[in-house]
Amino acid sequence: MSTEYRIGNFKVVVADDEAEFDRLAADEVTRLLQQKPEAVLGLPTGSTPVGLYAELRKRYREGRISLRAATSFNLDEYVGLAPEHPQSYHAFMQEHLFGGIDLPKERTFLPEGIGDPQLAAARYEELLAKYGPIDLMILGIGRNGHIGFNEPGTSFKSGVHPAMLTQSTIKANARFFASEDEVPKQAITMGIGNILAARRIMLLAKGASKAQAIRATVCGEMSEQVPASALQSHPDVLLILDREAAALLVADQEAGASCRIG
Ligand code: F6R
Repeated sequence: MSTEYRIGNFKVVVADDEAEFDRLAADEVTRLLQQKPEAVLGLPTGSTPVGLYAELRKRYREGRISLRAATSFNLDEYVGLAPEHPQSYHAFMQEHLFGGIDLPKERTFLPEGIGDPQLAAARYEELLAKYGPIDLMILGIGRNGHIGFNEPGTSFKSGVHPAMLTQSTIKANARFFASEDEVPKQAITMGIGNILAARRIMLLAKGASKAQAIRATVCGEMSEQVPASALQSHPDVLLILDREAAALLVADQEAGASCRIG
């Protein structure tokens, strides 16, 4: 059974195991689709949402959900990778989610990785304005607190923009490429302003390597040095964590210590 905490403006749910984690995240999407079949979803890539996407594909196969009327906007795409490139986020989404559900292709949006990045960013901003606001923005988090490719130092007001990847993010993402040199150095990402404009935010984190970033997000000073700390200013944020990612947060709660750090 999961454990729930209310810490500041965050609802925090700590899952007991991986299966429960994915189920709880999928339940949020399922509930939204039941209430609003034409919902607009914001979607991340990375390893964290893979289980959620598998669970959504399964629910679609079982006839429990349909995304026929929904729209999706991915957070980001690498600059320089065509949609067919196996490491592109287009390809990732096709493999892990879009290929196994009924979301119409013309309403699955990702930034264009090929062409002028400034133009691609401006086009994506227009699309977001046309279809938005996003009803449920699903996020992963980087070890340095990044959300999307908004690295430390990014303005909380930022819109869609081309962003340079930090060395630590390049290193973390190298596991998906043949070598670190092949990891693109730039991406187009929704800005923190776009993320905060969503009606609801669900941030997912798994593993001990995220524990520090989660504690800083929830209990640290709101600072552009920790991009995810911007979420402290949003009225409706749900965090789904596994025990490892929640460890530092939960230790404070159980010791009765104040959440505030820094
Ligand atoms: C991906 C994205 C990134 C990841 C983050 C965590 O679209 O926006 O911010 O969510 O780097 O990645 P994983 O889940 O691989 O640990």
